[in-house]
Amino acid sequence: MITPIEAQARIADLSKQINYHNFLYYQEDRTEISDFEFDKLLEELIQLERQFPEYLEPDSPSQRVGGAITKEFETAEHQSRMLSLGNTYSEEELLAFDERVAKGLEHRNYEYFCELKFDGVAISLVYENGKLIGAVTRGDGTRGDVVTENIKTIRNIPLRIHGENIPEKFEVRGEIFLPLREFNKINQEREENGDTLLANPRNAASGTVKMQDSSIVAKRRLNCYFYQLIGSELSVNSHDEAIHLIEKWGFNVSPTYAKCESIREVLSYIEDWKEKRFDLPLETDGVVLKINNYDQREELGFTAKIPKWAIAYKYKAESVESQLLSITYQVGRTGAITPVANLSPVHLAGTTVKRASLHNANEIERLELHEGDTVFVEKGGEIIPKITAVSTTKRKVGAKPIQYIDHCPECSTPLERNEGEAKHFCPNAANCPPQILGRIEHFVHKRAMDIDSMGTERIRTLIDQRYIENPADIYDLEEIQDQLLGLEMSQDQYQKTDDGILYISLTKSFFALTEGISLTAIQKFCEGQMEIPLEKILENFKSFIRTSNKKVAQNIATIAKLEKVLQSSGIPKLEDYLPVSVVLYLLVGNQANLEELKAAAQHEGTVHGIMLKMKLNLTGEQEERIKKLKANTFQEGVISNMIEGINASKSQSFEKVIFALGIRNIGENTAQILAKHFKTIDALSNACSEDLLAVNGVGETLVNSIQDYFSEKANLVMIQRLREKGLNFKVTETEKELLGNSLQGMKILASGKLNHFKRDEIIDFIEANGGQYLKAVSKGLDFIIEGEDMGPSKKEKAQKLGIKMISEEEFLSMVGKTIET
Ligand code: IVH
Repeated sequence: MITPIEAQARIADLSKQINYHNFLYYQEDRTEISDFEFDKLLEELIQLERQFPEYLEPDSPSQRVGGAITKEFETAEHQSRMLSLGNTYSEEELLAFDERVAKGLEHRNYEYFCELKFDGVAISLVYENGKLIGAVTRGDGTRGDVVTENIKTIRNIPLRIHGENIPEKFEVRGEIFLPLREFNKINQEREENGDTLLANPRNAASGTVKMQDSSIVAKRRLNCYFYQLIGSELSVNSHDEAIHLIEKWGFNVSPTYAKCESIREVLSYIEDWKEKRFDLPLETDGVVLKINNYDQREELGFTAKIPKWAIAYKYKAESVESQLLSITYQVGRTGAITPVANLSPVHLAGTTVKRASLHNANEIERLELHEGDTVFVEKGGEIIPKITAVSTTKRKVGAKPIQYIDHCPECSTPLERNEGEAKHFCPNAANCPPQILGRIEHFVHKRAMDIDSMGTERIRTLIDQRYIENPADIYDLEEIQDQLLGLEMSQDQYQKTDDGILYISLTKSFFALTEGISLTAIQKFCEGQMEIPLEKILENFKSFIRTSNKKVAQNIATIAKLEKVLQSSGIPKLEDYLPVSVVLYLLVGNQANLEELKAAAQHEGTVHGIMLKMKLNLTGEQEERIKKLKANTFQEGVISNMIEGINASKSQSFEKVIFALGIRNIGENTAQILAKHFKTIDALSNACSEDLLAVNGVGETLVNSIQDYFSEKANLVMIQRLREKGLNFKVTETEKELLGNSLQGMKILASGKLNHFKRDEIIDFIEANGGQYLKAVSKGLDFIIEGEDMGPSKKEKAQKLGIKMISEEEFLSMVGKTIET
């Protein structure tokens, strides 16, 4: 049992750690721990504060997780009206504004303070005695909605201000926004799940601020920039002083501001940010310039609605013309189809644009897009720009309207569209290649099973060559790892004809058939041989060999033999390629005959596949030559990393496993909620609609996805296989009694003989102290406990990966244990 004193210290320590990670995320735009590890810290804090409420501080980071449900927001009146700003769109209008200011002040002795105009939702925060007491939206400028509970979940909004001379009461105003990265991430997830997309970051932010359930607000990483301080007893006389003060108090201020001595300087600030603003973490649509000095502001005063001392300059949305070249239809992990427009490259807002998103068939209809249309492209903050309109006057006569596809571009299955859904989808989940790839990529993803060394290319290769087709197959790879050695990754060098003959590029063939000539030299030679008949190329190659001066006689003899075999084999010619069977025949000597090789090549797509099938007894030299023929291959190191990653993934928690399964609409948060609630996969798969709906955060759509998933026999078979491989299909951590939390969030491995623990004991001990035990050496480890006689290969690998190694004694002192020896 933890004593109150220990609890108090731990609460302080956890709060400090969590605040530090929040600071990194919001202020420095980086992270040192995963979301999962962060949530663990928070969970522990909440648990301790529940147990020892006397140590719950009002500004504890636990106060930001939300939970309050507001059915209807109360409204409140603003102390002073929240005004809007006048807008300008040109240099002339700005100069005219400056003239009015000079006239109003009767001199030109003033400064402007320039800020970007953030495109979000205005908010007013009121603090009393250093504590946040209310957050109110702009509303109609006079009254707004009280959204305090939601705002408190934004992790960098100070709940309490520390420091000296804090006024008894003050107000800060700013702009809440959804960072573009978050916006794009949410939309990407929604896209994959087939949900409707959020229209733009601004709407997403305003929708989030007004959500009824603050725990959902907490999960969307809103942020806020502050740009105004209001109060009656403030010690500041100008805006720059105010901004520095609120920055000192801990409010987030965008670092993009600048003081300008004249309207000319303002113009150059505007020019400066015209393109740079696209690198900012949020959308901006202009610049706000404000008179810096407060007395001068007062002198200038207001019109009915807007201040005369400030104005906004709006950037023109840059729009460029481009040509629609074609439309690519992408198939996502869940089978959702996304059309993407391929455009003639144009320069837009600092980048070259070649593609634009079209979202779905409705969008194409809305734009009335025709083949070859001239389109207008604009760039918001999103990753890929959008087509805003079509120039009908430039449309070519007879251009056909774009016909949306009705079959899957990847597997030719007829597409379907559910009622009320914007996207078409391919129902062939089990066999459609990008769906298989997407599911496996999702399964191994860092935030799911976290399997190292399984990047897209490698997964694609394993799928193409039929080693895997669903996640359960991944766990069978260990048994067949010897077959993976030398497996070829990119198969661009091959061509297969309809009648099954496998060809390989001339470049690769020449490279493997000769000795002493570099691949680069051969590539160069081949580049100069385009559109020349094969017989002539072979002739030229022989001359090339002679000039190379490398093993001339031997190399020429090989090419001469090649000419002969090609002739007698009767295999049809293919420009720039040679039959793989012939090339291999020359390389393996008398180990195989041409007919056998031809037959093997008929059913395979790579040299690796053929060689596995032929089971030849090759000499080292022959092996080396065949290696030269192959594409990039799986090497020993990669395979062992992969296998270790696969084994280590077996320790991932139940919630990660649920997430990894890739059930439609189940993101990380939902997976966590479901794992906590149902505790086992059986309870989840057997839950009826009522059971599911009783869980906070589960709605109709999710119920359908879950039930659809578990009604597929193939999914149940796969889960059974995964279960047999030892994956966690039930909650384990929470059932264990915790001894302490000193290893919270750490991934640890013990190797060699330990003095104080047996093998199983160390695993239990690590887990009981909040750590996670990994079964293999991998990059994800925080450290290794090095016992006596640790295996040299493991040690070498750990050193290579730069993993810290500590002694058993160091480990014990880390967890605060002294064990009698
Ligand atoms: S100052 C009286 N500064 O623009 C001046 N406003 O059109 C009060 N906005 O309601 C506003 N970025 O929501 C100011 N750097 C900035 C701003 C900004 C965005 C918004 C704000 C305001 C609206 C006025």
